[in-house]
Amino acid sequence: MYNLRKATIDDAQLLFDWTNDYEVRATAVIKKKIEWDEHVNWLTNKLQNNQSHIYILIDDNNENIGVIRFDKNNDAFVISYSIDKLHRGKGMGYLILQFGIKKILKKEPQCKFVASVQTNNIASIKIFEKLGFRLEKTEVVKEHIFNIYCKDGNE
Ligand SMILES: CC(C)(COP(=O)(O)OP(=O)(O)OC[C@H]1O[C@@H](n2cnc3c(N)ncnc32)[C@H](O)[C@@H]1OP(=O)(O)O)[C@@H](O)C(=O)NCCC(=O)NCCS
Repeated sequence: MYNLRKATIDDAQLLFDWTNDYEVRATAVIKKKIEWDEHVNWLTNKLQNNQSHIYILIDDNNENIGVIRFDKNNDAFVISYSIDKLHRGKGMGYLILQFGIKKILKKEPQCKFVASVQTNNIASIKIFEKLGFRLEKTEVVKEHIFNIYCKDGNE
């Protein structure tokens, strides 16, 4: 059994390690290593902001599997997520999105979801397509191409 729990400031080190994981930085819009102070400030603000929701996927043994974040921007939630490298390739990416979207829809049934996925991130593209997201457009950011995927909550 897997569950989502809310992230807290006690997760600062875990989230710091995950955000600086090689593949996480390689697939993110901001590629540079994140510094600790910058991270703690960022996390403190996110946790105080009621427009942002950060959840951690845990297993039966309370092991931390991955993180998903929803940042509300007008009527859409922008999704960011990653899976601990030891747990990749086992369907956890799909699961965390499925669980996370369900949780947000309970709060706001009419909302929309948006995700920006670098075009070489095949695993993530497969996941969004399998979840019924549609490709709205592509964007070039600092010479990298990103697919912008969208989904309405009631779709
Ligand atoms: C992207 C990420 C979340 C995917 O999570 P995951 O749990 O490893 O993915 P899944 O096991 O659910 O696999 C999803 C699909 O991609 C495929 N896949 C997994 N890893 C792959 C890889 N490296 N290359 C190509 N396909 C891959 C799987 O076979 C699966 O395909 P299927 O549905 O046809 O079986 C994870 O790799 C990760 O954390 N990456 C770094 C951060 C990141 O990219 N975040 C997303 C930013 S948009």
